[in-house]
Amino acid sequence: MKTAIFSTHKFEKDYLVKANGEKHLVKFIDAHLSYETVELVNGHKAVSIFVNDDASSRVLHKLKDLGVQFLALRSAGFNNVDIKAASEMGIRVARVPEYSPYAVAEHATALMLALNRKLIKAHSRVRDSNFSLDGLAGFDMHGKTAGVIGLGKIGRIVVKILNGYGCKVLAFDITEDKEFAKKYDLEYVTIDVLCEKSDIITLHVPLNEGTKYLINKDRINKMKPGVMLINTGRGGLLDTKEVIKALKICKIGYLGLDVYEEEQGLFFEDHSDEILQDDVIARLMTFQNVLITSHQAFLTDTALQNIADTTIDNLDCFEKGTSCKNELK
Ligand code: NAI
Repeated sequence: MKTAIFSTHKFEKDYLVKANGEKHLVKFIDAHLSYETVELVNGHKAVSIFVNDDASSRVLHKLKDLGVQFLALRSAGFNNVDIKAASEMGIRVARVPEYSPYAVAEHATALMLALNRKLIKAHSRVRDSNFSLDGLAGFDMHGKTAGVIGLGKIGRIVVKILNGYGCKVLAFDITEDKEFAKKYDLEYVTIDVLCEKSDIITLHVPLNEGTKYLINKDRINKMKPGVMLINTGRGGLLDTKEVIKALKICKIGYLGLDVYEEEQGLFFEDHSDEILQDDVIARLMTFQNVLITSHQAFLTDTALQNIADTTIDNLDCFEKGTSCKNELK
């Protein structure tokens, strides 16, 4: 089946080529899918996209007009796709629901440790032959209260890791799994109580209407002074401007971000030869206690292999006309 793969990155191409073999006639496209680039799909029945491609209703309409029938997401999150519009137009959509929750959970906790123990600053000092320890003191994770928002596949692994550190874990989710709570000695609380009581807060919910700006001015006000906030979920879960205000008054003591509200067009690309136009991320980058990675939490060899294999499986299912367990409706 002729498939146009948008936003193809160097880090994933070999995995996709290997998983595909000779099955589908794939065209790798560097560009993002957007209203401006959609014409590139001409003649392709299927399209594959990544997290920052635009599959809003107006782009889907164009895809439909160009004969596209299937959208294969190379991601778990699907906040960039208008699923309702796709379904009304008869464009089927499938995702990769799970590729390595371990990769993301491990990255979230890596951000915690790197921030806490000031590893980035320590590394650059040592490289500069400055072996002083002044200003590098961290805190024991052991005994701290960690609040995990979203206890799905990733959040649960985060809980297990935090258990290993000896943290007391609080959790918030719209559904409660009492057995898991008992086994891992965690307490379900409301989001406001979680904000009030946690030393570390980490976000693992999808971005949807119910979670947009879940961390807003009111909730930040409820947090402990010097709280550590980690977001590997989606940028829109945080009101970034309010977060900056809280960093300026030391209300937030540490911020670890793998995602950013306005990451589209910024993350995954090399902009090192350009003047940075985004004033909000520019301000974030000035804080010593902010650590930003550009949406790389998923980036392990296991995850890349699983993403490629599942994407090709989803294309196979569509081509054969069989039901696809990863289809979004
Ligand atoms: P999941 O679907 O297994 O778990 C999500 C959890 O959030 C569920 O337990 C659900 O009940 C809960 N939830 C949903 N809406 C909620 C609400 N309004 N309030 C409270 N809880 C709510 O998803 P998984 O695999 O754990 O992934 C979580 C998110 O992580 C994804 O949606 C995606 O946005 C993000 N992600 C980020 C990656 C990265 O590289 N930074 C890679 C993969 C996922």
